[in-house]
Amino acid sequence: MAGRPKKDEQYLEEHLETLTKLGTKSRQVMPQEYNTFGPWTPLKLIVLKNYVDVYTKILHRERLGSIGHGFKSKVFIDVFCGSGLNKIDYAPNRRAKDAQLHAWFPGSTLIASEYASHDSKFDEIISIDKDKRKLDALVSRMRALYASQPFLPLCGRAEDKLQEVGTKITQEKAHYLALVDYEDIKSLRLDILESLLKERGDVFVTILASGMLRCFGKSLESDNSRATLRRFLTGDVFDALESKALDGRLDISYLASEIASKFRQHKEIVEWIPIRKGSNGYQYLMFFAVSETSGGNPFVKMINGTKDRMSRISGENVAKILPVLSGVQRRIC
Ligand SMILES: C[S@@+](CC[C@H](N)C(=O)[O-])C[C@H]1O[C@@H](n2cnc3c(N)ncnc32)[C@H](O)[C@@H]1O
Repeated sequence: MAGRPKKDEQYLEEHLETLTKLGTKSRQVMPQEYNTFGPWTPLKLIVLKNYVDVYTKILHRERLGSIGHGFKSKVFIDVFCGSGLNKIDYAPNRRAKDAQLHAWFPGSTLIASEYASHDSKFDEIISIDKDKRKLDALVSRMRALYASQPFLPLCGRAEDKLQEVGTKITQEKAHYLALVDYEDIKSLRLDILESLLKERGDVFVTILASGMLRCFGKSLESDNSRATLRRFLTGDVFDALESKALDGRLDISYLASEIASKFRQHKEIVEWIPIRKGSNGYQYLMFFAVSETSGGNPFVKMINGTKDRMSRISGENVAKILPVLSGVQRRIC
């Protein structure tokens, strides 16, 4: 019988503790090079960690062949990979920031290396970032911590690299798990993502939904914001969202369903997980898109469980636990 799901606080504490241990290891290499985020970011990393574990267990080498399409390998594709080290600022306000309230977390590529099942690691990890210093730091971290993991770092703009990655995985008959971790909506047009979406694999895409809603407010006043949004969302999605915004009826669930319909042009199953800043604020939506496989997709139940969990917890919960884990505070308050 499956055990009862863990209480939210215990679940968070355990995952945060495990991740900060790996963050500390990552920081032993080039500690001066990192990305900085808010306390909601570890929630995204927990989703990735859990999925990598289940994905690699299920797509064990012997089972790869049995899911059809003659797959020979499985790869992790980290689009917008960062440096492999994330500084999480959890200070409640600007004054407290002076007290250096922060914790260290591993980046997404390290998570894919560490939490893949020990006897079913990725055959290759492909990581893309346009920032050479960040990517060099990631390469050094991968060499130091996961020397035996086949690793292909690609320096450049994701929009210029994705076609090459799509061709490579087709030629190599690779099934893929990808994380497309948007920094802002100027980074990559949704339609360029299609070179990845049309290949067989599972994709997580983080979309900065609350920022986009704000942008829609502005887009009605400024041609510049309107053009940026239109370029990112592409004509059909943009037009539908803009007409709702003009009626004053654009909200997060409509935005989510329009973006999901774009992904559904390529993947049968599309869900989204909310990553929340606080009790009443979204930071982003983490879309999950996969192809249906014969016998049903085994990951959907897990994703729905994660969606429930992430609907109850937020960056505020993370910010309460991190001071205790870093020894700044003795008890969660
Ligand atoms: C949100 S961070 C990535 C964090 C990382 N996925 C993690 O979880 O540790 C976004 C990264 O995207 C990179 N970036 C932004 N625009 C890009 C583009 N057009 N092509 C490639 N990389 C880009 C930035 O240099 C930055 O390191």
